[in-house]
Amino acid sequence: MSTQLPEKRKPNSFNPTKITTQTVVDMKVRGEAISMLTAYDFTMAKLVDAAQVDIILVGDSASNVMAGFETTLPMTLEHMIYHTSCVVRGADRALVVADLPFMSYQVTTKEALISAGRMMKEAGAHAVKLEGGKPIADTVKRIVDAGIPVMGHLGLTPQSIYKFGTYKVRATEDAEAELLMEDALRLQEAGCFAIVLEKIPSSLSQKVTESLSIPTIGIGAGPHCDGQVLVLHDMLGLNKDFHPRFLRRYADLHTDIVHAVGRYVEDVKSRDFPNKKEQYN
Ligand code: KIV
Repeated sequence: MSTQLPEKRKPNSFNPTKITTQTVVDMKVRGEAISMLTAYDFTMAKLVDAAQVDIILVGDSASNVMAGFETTLPMTLEHMIYHTSCVVRGADRALVVADLPFMSYQVTTKEALISAGRMMKEAGAHAVKLEGGKPIADTVKRIVDAGIPVMGHLGLTPQSIYKFGTYKVRATEDAEAELLMEDALRLQEAGCFAIVLEKIPSSLSQKVTESLSIPTIGIGAGPHCDGQVLVLHDMLGLNKDFHPRFLRRYADLHTDIVHAVGRYVEDVKSRDFPNKKEQYN
């Protein structure tokens, strides 16, 4: 496995230094795969940006991986604004997309617009992501009309986990698959610049991807999407207990960190740390 970072890309019309929503739409046209990863803080955002990921998603999965909640429901707009502002300060190149949290956009379109506006003004996000299809299409259109780019999210939408009752693959039956296809078309019509497809059959994500002019970004949705997304802490192996079929681990940081911290504790206990070179005289 190469440990070299990709060479810094030269700016030109197809390969700009900063990724925009237009860049990712153009990538679909050119058949170039879009890479997206989550990040929730400045340091991780800097690392992910240095590795030239195209999109950083400040997901409300922060609820699980940063705050230790079981679901994404407890996240507030204030939490998400805080995490997003940290990520924006660490990202020079990537497009930063922020999740609008549960109940910050579902009650009224006006409230949704205010939430999206706060995410842009206070956190500096470049776009927002909302979960759902037809029921939120008018809201998506209103936010887009106000000049705020929107990414959609269909399939397994974790904010609806209590409605689904399970984290199993969605849209395996024809009726739900047809609904999902209609939802995707409605979101495109409403002005979304991209749509996340989470945990749906690969054949369905292929059909949706081929039917849309905007990119699809999959997680557990197979290889036919225009891009892929994973939760950073999962792909870095920071989380030992989560191993869905779709997850590929690129590191085992859980082991590395536990070993490193263990060595530090031993060195402190044995008074090996600090040594002569690690003190001021
Ligand atoms: O919150 C999140 O991390 C997400 C991704 C799983 C797509 O929405």
